Amino acid sequence: MVSGSGRAGRAFLLTNIGELTTNVAAPGDACGTLRDAAVIVRDGRVEWVGSADAAPTDVPVVNAEGRAVIPGFVDSHTHLVFGSDRAAEFAARMAGESYAAGGIRTTVAATRAASDDELRARLAALVGECRAQGTTTLEIKTGYGLDVETETRLARLASEVTAEVTFLGAHVVPAEFAGRGDDYVELVVGDMLDAVAPHARWIDVFCEEGAFTPTQSRRVLEAGRAAGLGIRVHGNQLGFGGGAALAVELGAAAVDHCTYLSDDDVAALAGSDTVATLLPGVEFSTRQPYPDARRLIDAGVTVALASDCNPGSSFTSSMPLMIALAVREMGMTVAEAVWAATAGGARALRLADVGVIRPGARADLVLLEAPTRVHLAYRPGVPLVRTVWKDGAEV
Ligand code: NIG
Ligand code: FE
Repeated sequence: MVSGSGRAGRAFLLTNIGELTTNVAAPGDACGTLRDAAVIVRDGRVEWVGSADAAPTDVPVVNAEGRAVIPGFVDSHTHLVFGSDRAAEFAARMAGESYAAGGIRTTVAATRAASDDELRARLAALVGECRAQGTTTLEIKTGYGLDVETETRLARLASEVTAEVTFLGAHVVPAEFAGRGDDYVELVVGDMLDAVAPHARWIDVFCEEGAFTPTQSRRVLEAGRAAGLGIRVHGNQLGFGGGAALAVELGAAAVDHCTYLSDDDVAALAGSDTVATLLPGVEFSTRQPYPDARRLIDAGVTVALASDCNPGSSFTSSMPLMIALAVREMGMTVAEAVWAATAGGARALRLADVGVIRPGARADLVLLEAPTRVHLAYRPGVPLVRTVWKDGAEV
């Protein structure tokens, strides 16, 4: 593009934006939509937002030529560090087999066997895939190591590419602890937590039939909190379970999946700061019913959308696909879905300076090859991300 747009530390004016989604809420418009707008970026941050007519012109110009600009996507739930994919399992599922949490153990074996360089190369490729599709903030979980050494490696590798690292030692009970789930939980909250916590910001647990009970989950989350980590929960994916209620009770930043929620769960979420993160790539890839986003939003719950990119239940990193599925299958409006994939993800990670385009925010911007954000759902499967800036630098 133009000189000046390529590196942090430089300034540029992005102007002639046909539709700018700022996510600075205006009455009746949570997306804070501006027409014929402009943004000035300086030193990796947004410096100025306003009308194209009023924009200062003393910096290099990038002309959006009437296209739409949105905040970079905030993908608040991924599992990007792992040793091999599970294409055969997916094919078998599409031939009629059902999804079970136990498939995680297949990836654990491959991940333990992989070298750091192999894991790092796969992770780098996936991060590149995310960036190219407009994701500028990424959360990454451990959870395919399930022993002290491998969980620590995964957290360290994830921390090389993001500050949002989540310790998910309690993903499933590994084969060597079969029938001894409580003993495994003691390892997770003991030596494993001690080793991983320095590399992580969050702790997570898969609170589900076939993984960890609510009692075990509480033990894991409370230990993580005592070690200084923030709380997130995988819950209510495969059935009505205690994950959502536990997340609210412990003040978790988010409970993720939320496919099966009771009325009490919805009421508890609505009265809390816990974000319900919906992961429609999972329902797409496991042939489960989609979560009812409309019910959650109408009840006043804050909803985020994330990819859950992982080799088992959702091997896609595409946030535009999540938006399209949420709109088509989950009762969300386009504006709600775009907000949930940007500002909603930021809420789920308790980050104030991403998912929003206002002075002082990180200059994480996506220029779409489209005149409006509506096209993200209206043209499913079409690559509409034209240019991505992360911290003011073109990706
Ligand atoms: O978020 N639900 C638990 N964990 C992942 C699936 C991991 C796997 O199947 O490998 C998820 O869907
Ligand atoms: Fe997940």
